[in-house]
Amino acid sequence: MSADTGSYAAVYAAAQSDPAGFWGELAEQIRWTRRWDTVLDDSAKPFYRWFTGGELNTCYNCVDRHVDEGRGDQPALVYDSPLAGAQRTWTYRELRDVVARVAGVLRGMGVAKGDTVVIYMPMVAEAAIAMLACARIGAVHSVVFGGFAAPELAKRVLDAKPKLVMSASCGLLPGKTVPYKPLLDEALKIANAANTPCLILQREQQRCELIPGRDHDWSAAVAQAQPADCVTLKATDPLYVIYTSGTTGVPKGVVRDNGGHAVALKWSMDAIFGMKPGDAFWAASDVGWVVGHSYIVYGPLLQGCTTILYEGKPVGTPDAAAFWRVIADHHVKALFTAPTAFRAIKKEDPKGEGVKRYDLSGFKYLFLAGERSVPDDIEYAKRILGVPVIDNWWQTELGWPAISNFAGIELLPVKPGSATKAVPGFELEYVDEEGHPQPDGEIGNLVIKLPMPPGTLYTLWHNNERFEKSYLARYPGYYLSGDAGMRDRDGYCSVMTRIDDIINVAGHRLSTGQMEQVLAAHPDVAEGAVVGVADALKGQVPLGLVVLKLGVTKPEADICKELVARVRNEIGPVADFKSVKVVKRLPKTRSGKVLRVTIRTLADGVEVKVPATIEDATVLPEITAALTALGYPRHAG
Ligand code: COA
Ligand code: AMP
Repeated sequence: MSADTGSYAAVYAAAQSDPAGFWGELAEQIRWTRRWDTVLDDSAKPFYRWFTGGELNTCYNCVDRHVDEGRGDQPALVYDSPLAGAQRTWTYRELRDVVARVAGVLRGMGVAKGDTVVIYMPMVAEAAIAMLACARIGAVHSVVFGGFAAPELAKRVLDAKPKLVMSASCGLLPGKTVPYKPLLDEALKIANAANTPCLILQREQQRCELIPGRDHDWSAAVAQAQPADCVTLKATDPLYVIYTSGTTGVPKGVVRDNGGHAVALKWSMDAIFGMKPGDAFWAASDVGWVVGHSYIVYGPLLQGCTTILYEGKPVGTPDAAAFWRVIADHHVKALFTAPTAFRAIKKEDPKGEGVKRYDLSGFKYLFLAGERSVPDDIEYAKRILGVPVIDNWWQTELGWPAISNFAGIELLPVKPGSATKAVPGFELEYVDEEGHPQPDGEIGNLVIKLPMPPGTLYTLWHNNERFEKSYLARYPGYYLSGDAGMRDRDGYCSVMTRIDDIINVAGHRLSTGQMEQVLAAHPDVAEGAVVGVADALKGQVPLGLVVLKLGVTKPEADICKELVARVRNEIGPVADFKSVKVVKRLPKTRSGKVLRVTIRTLADGVEVKVPATIEDATVLPEITAALTALGYPRHAG
């Protein structure tokens, strides 16, 4: 059975029965400078590598290849910014030329194969160009989301040790300009890397001061640069590092390779997204997140599609019809976004009136991921758009969907609440604490049998030990996803909750443990707990309860304000930490563990099962009173 044809069941079975044959056939669609020796190299289990011996360049496959194969005049990248009032399109030929020049700048600044480059940029086309320029010369990029505060950027700089930072003077958000340069300067200082060379894009909305000798003006450097050619890389060489929240304050540097990544992402565009060369694909995310890496930049370009990079919001730029305007303007065939965006639109336009203003006849699919899609989200989107709405589950670590429906193979019937079925190449299992598979319909920890398919992480940046400890140690032979859910007897998979302290705020992944660390560092705080509570718009938002040290006399309201400011300044505005209250004590077990689930259920207003292990149940009315004062429970709707 070929990987491209047949029913879902047949394709899934083909990937299971002969992974090397399956992925080897798909690899033929990528342009290699040297063919691989081994499709799946399992010589160093549990570290698996794909396409060892193969050589290629990801940038060549994303850009030059399409020029060489006759699609040079096709639009490759569209920048659409209602915030800047700008739209611009690069054809594949134009994209190749500008990427080659930026790559030349990097080379001129001493960046070589294997060096790391941190990219801290807003949603401008240059962010995608920067990523491709790194890939072109074999530099390993690490893109950091703009909504993180300086200390978070500093942690990533410390771990990635960049030879160069690429950034911009400012980002644009509705009603405000966010200066990036002061954050960058502060982060480099914190990371003890203040002399790291920086290439800075001056945006006309707000320019910044450049530090002579260290900072270089992007446009001036590009104007003088010699174009650089694609270098040959091993399939197993790193393409990028992307940091994601771990359960401690130290982010995890997920590493992606070149060969397996290119093969998997290109195939995902066919099989999952149903996209052909020349189609326009729009992932309304941010280049700082994995969705942006995989489906604003690499996936669509590997497939020869036109990709849209949108600097705006679903609402307010200028209204709740912004997405339909972009779809119509750029003939978008498929949109990928987070359910929260649809909840924002629904709030302002419950009847979907905005859709009627635009010609969406070319629009075929909506893909939702990043958080659980509740049946209401899906129903609304389906009703107003009249296209299949495809929930898909994955994570930064996986790089591409592991549970989905399949626009390019077979659209399976949808079951509300389920992201549909395991993607070919992923063997999923739901297990209990001891690792026994759960019966159909019973909730369990979601694990993936090793080896995982190409495109998934192969380690953490310079930290094999943490990779093994975080993901492989708990259930030998399996990857631990950190999510829990269930499979029904028809093989439909659901993902309902995390099993760790990660929460999902408007599709952004954050650690409550990290927020607790920030609270605990306040001089007046003895201890604190942060939980993710249900939110009608953002899915979840963090809520904190703190106990003060004895003898603190400062007004509680002042302390709470300081705590909100601390989380914003230490982690970033994206954490959306706005609710915190002082309490006399926290609910705990007899062994002293904070009962966070109990706090969460009280805040969500669902029935609380008082745990048998609770040390003193009389604390619960106090907690309920504190939550009531914060306005909880806030029933969705
Ligand atoms: N730079 C600086 N600050 C940023 C930022 C950036 N790149 N991105 C967000 N922020 C800030 C926002 O200004 C906001 O700050 P505020 O507290 O001062 O208002 C805070 O971080 C939270 O931002 P956000 O999560 O975007 O919330 P929002 O209320 O501004 O918008 C949505 C809510 C639902 C409209 C928005 O989150 C959204 O469009 N999400 C869907 C798509 C998506 O991005 N998914 C992620 C991965 S698929
Ligand atoms: P990130 O690594 O930022 O992409 O976040 C990944 C996490 O988001 C997953 O581990 C899930 O907890 C959650 N998630 C992503 N997509 C879905 C989905 N379709 N359904 C349920 N949860 C999801």
